[in-house]
Amino acid sequence: MADGNLANLAQARDEVYATPLEKLNPAQPALFQANTMWPIFERLRAEDPVHYTEEHEFGPYWSITKYNDIMAIDTNHQVFSSEGGITIAEQTQGDGPLPMFIAMDPPRHDVQRKTVSPAVSPTSLQVMEPLIRERAAMILDNLPIGEEFDWVDKVSKELTGMTLATLFGMPQEDRRQLIYWSDVVTAAPGQGLVDTIEQKMAIFVEYHAYFTKLWNERVNAPPTGDLISMLAHGEATRNMEPREYFGNVVLLTVGGNDTTRNTMASRSRRATRSSCGTSRATATKRSSTGRTTTSSTASGPAPTFPLASASTAAWATAWPSCSSRSSGKRSSSASR
Ligand code: HEM
Repeated sequence: MADGNLANLAQARDEVYATPLEKLNPAQPALFQANTMWPIFERLRAEDPVHYTEEHEFGPYWSITKYNDIMAIDTNHQVFSSEGGITIAEQTQGDGPLPMFIAMDPPRHDVQRKTVSPAVSPTSLQVMEPLIRERAAMILDNLPIGEEFDWVDKVSKELTGMTLATLFGMPQEDRRQLIYWSDVVTAAPGQGLVDTIEQKMAIFVEYHAYFTKLWNERVNAPPTGDLISMLAHGEATRNMEPREYFGNVVLLTVGGNDTTRNTMASRSRRATRSSCGTSRATATKRSSTGRTTTSSTASGPAPTFPLASASTAAWATAWPSCSSRSSGKRSSSASR
């Protein structure tokens, strides 16, 4: 399993080093799906940390691959503005990129961000913590025992969907719809989830209608602590154009979905692969209900998450072998 992955990586490395530097193009979804994007970044960091790719379906773009350069750019909005978009493939509804505060500079960026940030302040998270813990325990307690299952679907998406639905003040039964919309936002047509840009736009119409209804409900009710209510009542956001409101909804949906879900997915991958190391980050044990759950341990039994599915198998096969891990090589990517 791991050997096949190493062969793919070796092949990817050969291809990267055989390509003229100026032709290197890291923005290829297939590289990330196969977890073979490492060599391209390795070479860019070593030979061309501020790299220009001239030919790409979305037009020319720069790749900045070293920490200090990234920080210098990220903290200098006067020279490196976020206005107008932050991805090489901007989402459109036919009228150009959706406005959203991640794609704005101060002061607009700051006041909009400040409007919603209380929802995820340490205090709010402390209030939510017991609920999140209870849901996490319920999800883990309901996992099948002794059979393969899809961790991403049953755990990562489920807990992410539940938490995001709570943050948005949505009915829990709509949580999977939220995950789906987030996936559609980041899906390139023809890569699996949507076939055409028209199909993607049609799904956006439903997504937009759903959140317009939520706005209308919140704006006519007293403020509550959810993100939609915060936007509908916030001084800096209550008079936003509908497109800007929707852009911020998209930002919060994708920002909340991709990050938390992939973090959970990659943690579970560490658990599945930790049996070959001397120190283990996580191991499985039986809870009082007899189901599997995770706990930290330095030397417990080998983890036994019964993982595998199209997506989980992809990360499992993508993980470096024990020997490459013990020599310090480690990846941290996750599937989507
Ligand atoms: C594992 C969880 C998460 C990680 C690792 C993560 C990481 C990050 C990082 C590194 C940034 C850029 C730094 C910054 O602008 O401050 C960012 C920005 C952002 N995140 Fe998260 N995030 C997570 C969860 C969430 C959640 C749950 C939401 C929403 C519900 C969210 C919404 C946002 C938004 C809206 C921005 C843009 C901020 C801006 O433009 O100033 N994130 N996140």
